[in-house]
Amino acid sequence: MPADIKLDEINMIKPRWLSSSRAMLGEFEKLKNEGLIPLNGQFYPAVHYPGITMYPPINENELFKGYANPKNGLFSIYVHIPFCRRYCSFCHYPVKTGALASEQERDYYLNSLKEEIDIYIKRLGLGVIKASSVLFGGGTPTHLTLRQLNEFLRFFTSKVDLRHCRQFSYDVDPSTITGREGIERLKLMKSYGGDRITLGIQSLDDAVLKKMNRPHNRDEAIKAIKESKKAGFKLNLEFIYGFPGQSVESWVDTIKQAVELGVEEIQLYRIKIIPYGDHMSAMTGAYKVWPDSFTPIEQVILMKQLAILILNENGYQENLGRVFTKNKNDFSRYADEQCCRLYDQIGFGLTAFSSLRDRFALNTQDFKLYYSLINQGKLPINRGLIRDKDTQLRWALILPLKNREVYKPDFEKITGVSPNEIFSKKIQKLKDFGLLQEDDKTLALSTLGRFFADEVCQQFYYPKYLPFAQAEYAAGELNPYNCSGV
Ligand SMILES: C[S@@+](CC[C@H](N)C(=O)[O-])C[C@H]1O[C@@H](n2cnc3c(N)ncnc32)[C@H](O)[C@@H]1O
Ligand code: SF4
Repeated sequence: MPADIKLDEINMIKPRWLSSSRAMLGEFEKLKNEGLIPLNGQFYPAVHYPGITMYPPINENELFKGYANPKNGLFSIYVHIPFCRRYCSFCHYPVKTGALASEQERDYYLNSLKEEIDIYIKRLGLGVIKASSVLFGGGTPTHLTLRQLNEFLRFFTSKVDLRHCRQFSYDVDPSTITGREGIERLKLMKSYGGDRITLGIQSLDDAVLKKMNRPHNRDEAIKAIKESKKAGFKLNLEFIYGFPGQSVESWVDTIKQAVELGVEEIQLYRIKIIPYGDHMSAMTGAYKVWPDSFTPIEQVILMKQLAILILNENGYQENLGRVFTKNKNDFSRYADEQCCRLYDQIGFGLTAFSSLRDRFALNTQDFKLYYSLINQGKLPINRGLIRDKDTQLRWALILPLKNREVYKPDFEKITGVSPNEIFSKKIQKLKDFGLLQEDDKTLALSTLGRFFADEVCQQFYYPKYLPFAQAEYAAGELNPYNCSGV
């Protein structure tokens, strides 16, 4: 364990949390020496396979060649609104804020988005799309005026059949659903079938929120939670740990408050310093120049472990990856369908992606190109892949493993083989290290494996898709470049 973390001197750490915190820091060191975790401790999330920036160019015709709609006709639908009130200092998403997100600009975007939906529906040979779940994300979909939201939802529900939709969820910044207009927004969302909200709370410490440049303080976040509940929404609260200048005490206090709020889901995000997509926040540059001003990795690991202890003590267990709930049935249907059940999923809007069984397409991240492609009557897709056999096998294993578990009969249905036929050496090694567990029907991360879920899943990556170079990992048995071949 690093000498500079003195656990018993941190006020907020209860004596009963000491031994498991020490144990987790010990596991971190051990797994780093075995090559599971890069030597500098950095992480890159295993969200898609391959990682989102690694797709080659593709055009619409190549992408849809040979594609047939799902037999039950159902798609998971994602809609992206790339506008926010302010630019948060940690955010890597390409969003427009302030004057760049004028009402006129948002109108222009919404018109393009409607056209994109029409082009896509035509491309699939459909009149309307049947949704199994819907997520409006961003950016901040509630950073639309009431008129804009109403007009867009009217259009959307005329093109998307919601009769089979199991959940209609929104990603929301708390400042957009408080006050008179905010409450009207909630009513409007509800009237079009909205039933779940993910609120970006990030912290309940005003000093941290200020450093993050969030558009709300603690009181407004609490108000937003109350208003959403009153309006009848289920709630998922998102929190970030490891943000520069956020102390262990502040983080523990935030999570202790969070469990008292009576929400269905609590989601933990480790601060992403390396951007996941193409766009990067100012934080990435600052890290290169002043790495010492960032939270030491061991402290980040400690913060995660403490949050898990507090959540577990208060009845919250990890459900979908990094989301903690009291009730097993509370989770994002969209995430479950896309990452665990591997349903066909369509994304509309800037940066949105579509995952269509054996293929993946990514929309452009550039506003000008987005508008220009749609003006030409084309989908704004510019990168993607029809997966070859190797990539499909790894994708079908990595996504469910990261987010829930691999149900072997489903894996076989998708790929025609059992995971053990293909990955037996790797599975055995990870079981030997106590990172995986297995029975006849399932393959899942152990409690320890779940803590390091991204790195364990990266064990199944083809080397060229690994996020860090071979020399960045110790040359131990778990160096992901060892034995990665199928
Ligand atoms: C795409 S944002 C949308 C939510 C909404 N715009 C908001 O911020 O309230 C989804 C969540 O990703 C998380 N997030 C964004 N940037 C991050 C970063 N650099 N590191 C860790 N988590 C991040 C935040 O918790 C955020 O609430
Ligand atoms: S974190 Fe959310 S509110 Fe902040 S800039 Fe990013 S998308 Fe917008």
